[in-house]
Amino acid sequence: MLRRTFLRTAGALSAAPFAPRLLAALPPASATPAAAPRLAPRFGDGRDWWFEKRFGLFVHWGLYALEGWHEQDQWRRRIPRADYVKLAARWNPAQFNPDAWIDAAESAGMRYLCFTAKHHDGFCLFASRYTSYHSGNTPARRDHVRDLAAACQRRKFPLCLYYSIADWHHPAYPNQGRHHELPPQPGDTPDLSKYVEYVKAQVRELCTDYGELHGFWWDMNVDRHVDRSVNALIRELQPKAVINDRGFDAGDFGTPERDYTKEGAPVPVFEKRTEACQSIGMESWGWRTDEDYYTDRHLFRSIARYLARDANYLLNVGPLPDGSLPEVARGFLARTGAWYRLVHEALEGTVPAPHLTANRDVLLTRRGDTLYVILHTDPRGDAVKLKPLALLPRRATLLNTGAPVACSLALVPSEHGDQGRFLRLTGLPVNALANTVLVAKLDFDRLPESVAPVRHSGVSNA
Ligand code: GLC
Repeated sequence: MLRRTFLRTAGALSAAPFAPRLLAALPPASATPAAAPRLAPRFGDGRDWWFEKRFGLFVHWGLYALEGWHEQDQWRRRIPRADYVKLAARWNPAQFNPDAWIDAAESAGMRYLCFTAKHHDGFCLFASRYTSYHSGNTPARRDHVRDLAAACQRRKFPLCLYYSIADWHHPAYPNQGRHHELPPQPGDTPDLSKYVEYVKAQVRELCTDYGELHGFWWDMNVDRHVDRSVNALIRELQPKAVINDRGFDAGDFGTPERDYTKEGAPVPVFEKRTEACQSIGMESWGWRTDEDYYTDRHLFRSIARYLARDANYLLNVGPLPDGSLPEVARGFLARTGAWYRLVHEALEGTVPAPHLTANRDVLLTRRGDTLYVILHTDPRGDAVKLKPLALLPRRATLLNTGAPVACSLALVPSEHGDQGRFLRLTGLPVNALANTVLVAKLDFDRLPESVAPVRHSGVSNA
């Protein structure tokens, strides 16, 4: 006799879609694995733009682009400071055009930008009053942050500024030969509190003289020095600015980087606000002539993996010394956009729904009665089993092509143990579209809040 596993709804769900209704129904912390996950806390103020615009462009650009090797050229190739600073005399990026950067970001489907105002080399891409080591004192005679901020504000494209705390030029920064630091430099006068005053003066300058900013992206606090007054200053001057966790206090959000950060890998949803970052180049964030590049598939999976779990994502490119984007970067962004435009509805304005299946080879997101199935791992076959979900959608579409997806509730041989008939997507074009991330859209008449867990784990293709 057939024994069926029934799908149990957690309560009546109105047909009205979208997150707020679902959020209100979220279970308490003691939730069983079958319950909807908790999302990262929203700010409830002007910073919430960040939850609307989840995918951004990271840009690493500075003197190091001239050598085309790595943004940490000075340190990683042991270049004496006295030699490195000579690059400033060659800085004259005739093709720098912020609108072209924003165009390229938009071509990828990105909706904000984060720019290196000052990297570890200490060279400022803005005409600071507090150092002469800046782009205004080069043949370029430009304040690049000003030009970029003006374009971003004109185009309503949020701009965040990256700022390195480690500094290989400022005499007060205590370079001691720790990681991402030079050895002690002759003539320097290391004094951390004096250096932090310099940082605060530049923060005030950046947050006052450049119009509205949307974020401050700290990096490399080697001392792990705590000083809450620095972020407090940003918050006072730029209330919409989101601040990352690499500064002088915990800030607003975590920053898993590349694939190094493994803690985030298995979590069904990020309960802490998170913005992952990754570069198209495998070795460098700045322009590198001899760069090795990730595959499109690797990057698309990485993007999908964070966006589908309530996190943001910054994808980085390094412009050429003349300010233009290398063809290879434009190609990546265009290909990313071609994919993202088709599937973004699964990744923005949705809530993660990992509790609706036991299959961890896919990620699920939902918007009301629509469920999205994201194939974020290498598909081992052309079917996806969504056990214990046991409901047929009204319509199923592969977003990548617009073609219908066949769905079935038939008993499959591997499920003979509990005789379950679970939702299965079949005949997916996994070979033809092997170099991308497939996303299926399933429209249900009524998609439940949760499903009853089943005895077997239900790993796909079991
Ligand atoms: C790493 C790199 C640094 C880069 C940063 C971006 O920390 O060392 O150069 O700016 O990643 O997240």
